[in-house]
Amino acid sequence: MSFSIIGTGSALPKTIQTNSDLTAFLDTSHDWILSRTGIEARHICIEESILDIAFTASINALENADINPKHLDLIICPTLGGDTITPSLACLVQEKLGATCPAFDINAACSGFVYGLDVADAYLSRGKPMTILIIAVDAMSKLVDWTDRSTAVLFADGAGAAVVTNGDDLKSIYLSAVGNQHALDIPWAKGNHPGLSEKELPIPYLIMDGPEVYRFAITAICDDLRRVTRDAGIALEDLDLIIPHQANQRIIEGAAKRLKLPMKKFVLRVKNQGNTSAASIPLVLDDLNRHGQLKPGMLIALTAFGGGLTTGACVLTWSK
Ligand SMILES: CC(C)(COP(=O)(O)OP(=O)(O)OC[C@H]1O[C@@H](n2cnc3c(N)ncnc32)[C@H](O)[C@@H]1OP(=O)(O)O)[C@@H](O)C(=O)NCCC(=O)NCCS
Repeated sequence: MSFSIIGTGSALPKTIQTNSDLTAFLDTSHDWILSRTGIEARHICIEESILDIAFTASINALENADINPKHLDLIICPTLGGDTITPSLACLVQEKLGATCPAFDINAACSGFVYGLDVADAYLSRGKPMTILIIAVDAMSKLVDWTDRSTAVLFADGAGAAVVTNGDDLKSIYLSAVGNQHALDIPWAKGNHPGLSEKELPIPYLIMDGPEVYRFAITAICDDLRRVTRDAGIALEDLDLIIPHQANQRIIEGAAKRLKLPMKKFVLRVKNQGNTSAASIPLVLDDLNRHGQLKPGMLIALTAFGGGLTTGACVLTWSK
């Protein structure tokens, strides 16, 4: 069994923060950020809630797919978390859309969209006709420490959605997880039980070993792309486009070099998008779809890596 993507959507918050804007409160520079990451600007949720961007991306995807929200059978929301722990973001999107189907969040950090596709594929494998909305959303601006220049400059906010139904676009998919709290950690507030001492309460912001994640990411992209192309029965060179997780241009260039693939096969949007976590791949997918850059029959690979540590990759044929 497999699925087809019948619609895509995305939303970015209005506020744009350039590298120069960051120098007002961080000891950093436009040149440092650009040369180390390829990022020039990012969108940040100031006026919008996380639900607002999730809803807009969902509506865009449903319109693109020509699907009435009432006809959805499932909503899966890959996210590190919405505006509330409960209700889940997926439930709040369901309510705002006026849908009546089951809805739940999954947390696979930046690999979330590919994890979401795999979960959708598992549901569709039951053989019952279903229409599923996958809405990948993260607001990293609420999770980073804005006094830490080594992490705050990298991340951003956004939402990307896809509507999938029974079909045969998916050629192969692979997920992995290697539990590792040290490389990328976002501790949770532990409550205020009087029995807990101050020092047991974690600082609730993202902490990262950048160079370790950097090395992990390049290896993950290379290993996963080799595996999913082999599983799909094609050569790496047969891929028309590769949509990698948009974390850092140098990571993507490093992987392309190691795979001996030209950079023109890799889609880059990190410049004005930053690292939007789970939303990064569907944001690119929607951009390409809306600009007519995806042609029927194209072979596309998605490849993601992120906190967990998790990875996910797949090969798809574009049929919309
Ligand atoms: C974070 C990252 C850009 C850092 O690049 P790097 O070349 O490895 O830089 P380093 O960490 O070695 O730091 C080099 C120096 O720059 C400094 N620096 C860090 N952030 C800075 C910033 N925003 N502006 C200026 N200087 C900065 C460091 O303090 C360090 O200074 P020092 O040499 O005096 O100690 C890179 O490691 C990376 O992209 N890692 C992957 C992160 C990622 O993608 N995470 C998300 C996964 S989903």
